[in-house]
Amino acid sequence: MNQSAFSSIFHSYRTTFESFLDSQTLSLLSKYSAPELFEAMKYSLVAGGKRLRPVLALASSGGIQKGSQNVLILGSSLECIHTYSLIHDDLPSMDNDDFRRGLPTLHKKFSESTAILAGDALNSFAFYLLSLVESENGDFLLHRNLLEILHIGSGAPGMVSGQIYDLQMERANSEDQNSPTTEEKIELLRLTHSLKTGALIKASLLLGNRLRQDWKERQDSLSKYGEDLGLLFQITDDILDVEGTQESLGKTPGKDQKSGKTTYPALFGLDRCKSMVKDLQKNLISISSDFVSTSEEKEFFEELPVYIGQRKN
Ligand code: IPE
Ligand code: IPE
Ligand code: MG
Ligand code: MG
Ligand code: MG
Repeated sequence: MNQSAFSSIFHSYRTTFESFLDSQTLSLLSKYSAPELFEAMKYSLVAGGKRLRPVLALASSGGIQKGSQNVLILGSSLECIHTYSLIHDDLPSMDNDDFRRGLPTLHKKFSESTAILAGDALNSFAFYLLSLVESENGDFLLHRNLLEILHIGSGAPGMVSGQIYDLQMERANSEDQNSPTTEEKIELLRLTHSLKTGALIKASLLLGNRLRQDWKERQDSLSKYGEDLGLLFQITDDILDVEGTQESLGKTPGKDQKSGKTTYPALFGLDRCKSMVKDLQKNLISISSDFVSTSEEKEFFEELPVYIGQRKN
């Protein structure tokens, strides 16, 4: 276990991604956008965040090598989708949040209509970015696979359906009619978390992996790793909503309980959530042995679950 080696790998992936985002992705985005739209998208994109999804794509592609422009394009695509999902998640008609990444949410800073439209534009820009990935050796299937992976992670098969279930459960809790049994709630919550958060996390790993020659051999174990990592990530997000501070989270804590969300702490209590975190961490370390090949990969994928479970934001 070596968190400092992990931190330096994470940091180098993150800074490589952020300089690409600043120098390439944003200038491309500005070329195509009305000035107010660009200002809004940029406000949310450069506000920070952990950049977890681009970092996952970089890690699963095999790290930073010469000519890794393709994986930085994939990272930009993922961060555009993720940022759009946050902008829409914060809207008054969804979670109604005032702070994100330490700043007022986009609809507070600009307007609700601008926030909806900025999310729309980031979503379609993310798919356009995939067209800029260059294929080698006449790999005609590459773009088809990339589009499919991003759609499964972000659209109706993934994140968007997860958000629908999340809001359905919130509504059902407030109406208190025909309320589902605890077993039904547990099952629906697991599905919700795996879709609203897990699907894009899994897609991040699969997109990076798809750039490798040996992508087929690794995709099943990476999928399993992505599913458990997504669940670990969202259980930790739910715990942080209970235990975190506004300062470290950059978003308002305590909102889940206030809104009557179904969450892991609400169904299981904090102690059981923390033991679930430990079990998932162990399981992830064991799954990682099925696909890691270099020492950097081993370091990264064994320590990542520790970082995700111990993070403060
Ligand atoms: C927040 O995601 C939304 C969830 C899926 C829980 P992150 O915690 O990755 O947000 P940033 O990108 O670091 O701001
Ligand atoms: C949101 O989950 C997941 C998304 C798809 C954005 P949450 O609603 O719990 O995320 P936070 O806590 O607002 O970041
Ligand atoms: Mg939400
Ligand atoms: Mg939210
Ligand atoms: Mg949350």
